[in-house]
Amino acid sequence: MKITDALRAEHIVFHNLFDHIEKGVPRLKNLHAVQAVTAVLEGVLEDHGTVENNLLLEPLETSLGQIGHLENFHEEHEVIDLALRNIKSCRSLKNGKTLLLRAVQLSRQHFDKEERVVFPLIEKQLKAKTLAALGARWAQQRDVSGTIE
Ligand SMILES: [Fe+2]
Ligand SMILES: [Fe+2]
Repeated sequence: MKITDALRAEHIVFHNLFDHIEKGVPRLKNLHAVQAVTAVLEGVLEDHGTVENNLLLEPLETSLGQIGHLENFHEEHEVIDLALRNIKSCRSLKNGKTLLLRAVQLSRQHFDKEERVVFPLIEKQLKAKTLAALGARWAQQRDVSGTIE
């Protein structure tokens, strides 16, 4: 499996998660519940971001930097992290909900950009063999058992 297809599959799960969070936030009754949802989102986004950083961005940084499209890429991961961290220190339910929905919106924008710009660019830059080798490393890092081709 190509690394980009593996990451697209992860994105589908995230888009579902974002939908559920957006639907569920208005019903959250207290700040603790908002922060619990935030902690789950933070954990899964961190794992996904680490996989992207290790398998895509670090190896490709030079060529992507030259292309210039993606200079804000790391920054976008950090902006989302910061938005989520701010919720931890938030003291009002209303603000907590607003910040959580904002973090989801930022994440959606980032994911959309990866799907529209980054993944196609990577597929153009790298050979099929390299994309498959990175896909195999993804399966290892994600601890996917069995063979994925
Ligand atoms: Fe990302
Ligand atoms: Fe992503």
